[in-house]
Amino acid sequence: MLQQLETHYEDALKQLETITSSDNLHDWEIQFLGRKGVITEMLRSTGKLPAEDRASFGKRANEIKNLLTDAHTQRAALIEQQELAADLEEGQIDISLPGRARPVGGLHPSTQTLRLYAHVWGEMGFQVFRSRDVETDEYNFQLLNFPPHHPAREMQDTFYTNKPDVILRTQTSPGQIRAMQELGDNGTKPIRVILPGMCYRHEQITARSEVQFHQVEGLAVGRNIRMTDLKGTIAEFARRMYGNDVQVRFRASYFPFTEPSMEVDAECFLCGGTGCRVCKYTGWLEISGAGMVHPNVLRNGGYDPSVWSGFAFGMGPERATMLKHGITDIRYFWGNDLRFLEQF
Ligand code: PHE
Repeated sequence: MLQQLETHYEDALKQLETITSSDNLHDWEIQFLGRKGVITEMLRSTGKLPAEDRASFGKRANEIKNLLTDAHTQRAALIEQQELAADLEEGQIDISLPGRARPVGGLHPSTQTLRLYAHVWGEMGFQVFRSRDVETDEYNFQLLNFPPHHPAREMQDTFYTNKPDVILRTQTSPGQIRAMQELGDNGTKPIRVILPGMCYRHEQITARSEVQFHQVEGLAVGRNIRMTDLKGTIAEFARRMYGNDVQVRFRASYFPFTEPSMEVDAECFLCGGTGCRVCKYTGWLEISGAGMVHPNVLRNGGYDPSVWSGFAFGMGPERATMLKHGITDIRYFWGNDLRFLEQF
């Protein structure tokens, strides 16, 4: 039996030397040192030996068990090192490889212009007031001094809905009434707001007109607000937008909700007023509709027009963007063509 033990020992050592993976090492451990392993079994059968041989056999068997356990520990450390080295080798990162660029989105040109407007008007003390896109005929027209069947309604072809009286706003002006009603505290507080937002008109889509577009409305209500305030405010806006020396002019116009009403032109920022294709050789670009808030509109907003007055204006950011970048067709704005959008 002793001879057998020595053979197993040599066998175990020989096998151990060939082992290169921790999986195989585990198998080896079970085979020789496990609960039913070869060496364990031999130790267990010590009792079957004649009494005089038991002590020396048991001693040697225990010795061998310890030697193999040590050998196993050493081998395990070696294999662990090799496996780690292999892992590192395999998982190596090629830092010279170019990275994958993430596509970065940009802001829509209209959004950029809207933000610029909000910034400039903000510096001049106008806060943004958000009004709704879905309006009623009452707010979009009647309270703005368009009586039913008034011909001025023809200026703005309307999208109606299935609900009587509910429409998509054709202008941001109904927000004037809502701002007065919500911020005016029954006609006792002054107001200075801009109202940016989308408007909708049931029009033939052409290079010059879309069914949806933005407006930026402005409204100031207070005591002693006069037309000179409107002129000065818009001129200041134009200077901040287009440069310190830019001239503005006011042409008489008509809107039902302002009296008097006017159209505001700024000196063409491309040619400086000498005439070019963008300004159609007039030297002027239209930047805003404007006027003094009509007494009926003040009244509908809760103000007493004998004490309070105000001015309002309405600007078209798409038109401004088209002029600035030489865009000749408004349909690009909502065409979702990346070749257009990526240019901004
Ligand atoms: N709402 C007018 C339009 O859409 C513009 C405007 C606003 C004019 C405010 C005067 C005052 O044409």
